[in-house]
Amino acid sequence: MTFVVTDNCIKCKYTDCVEVCPVDCFYEGPNFLVIHPDECIDCALCEPECPAVAIFSEDEVPAGMENFIELNAELADIWPNITEKKDSMPDAEEFDRVINKSVGSKLKDLER
Ligand code: SF4
Ligand code: F3S
Repeated sequence: MTFVVTDNCIKCKYTDCVEVCPVDCFYEGPNFLVIHPDECIDCALCEPECPAVAIFSEDEVPAGMENFIELNAELADIWPNITEKKDSMPDAEEFDRVINKSVGSKLKDLER
């Protein structure tokens, strides 16, 4: 079992999650973070810390966002580790709660 970062992290990246993770299993891309499923110990500490409500247990990922389970696994192998909180993205408040940000954007653009 693992926790998964989903759509609402995109263009927000508040990074409060990073601070509480006891095993430093968050990885950072240009527009959002992912969790490495093989490193996550399922402690659930990060879930309530995310102001954007973007983190879910693997078995509670909302309908329509199931693709983020695979995406977290794929991108965690590519992106660099992040272990310290940093400033959120400049338009984080504007993009918080925008529904399905990954659908409107080309996912490849988000991954770069
Ligand atoms: Fe880290 Fe725990 Fe969140 Fe997994 S559930 S990403 S181990 S804080
Ligand atoms: Fe993203 Fe929430 Fe963490 S917006 S960076 S999952 S605190």
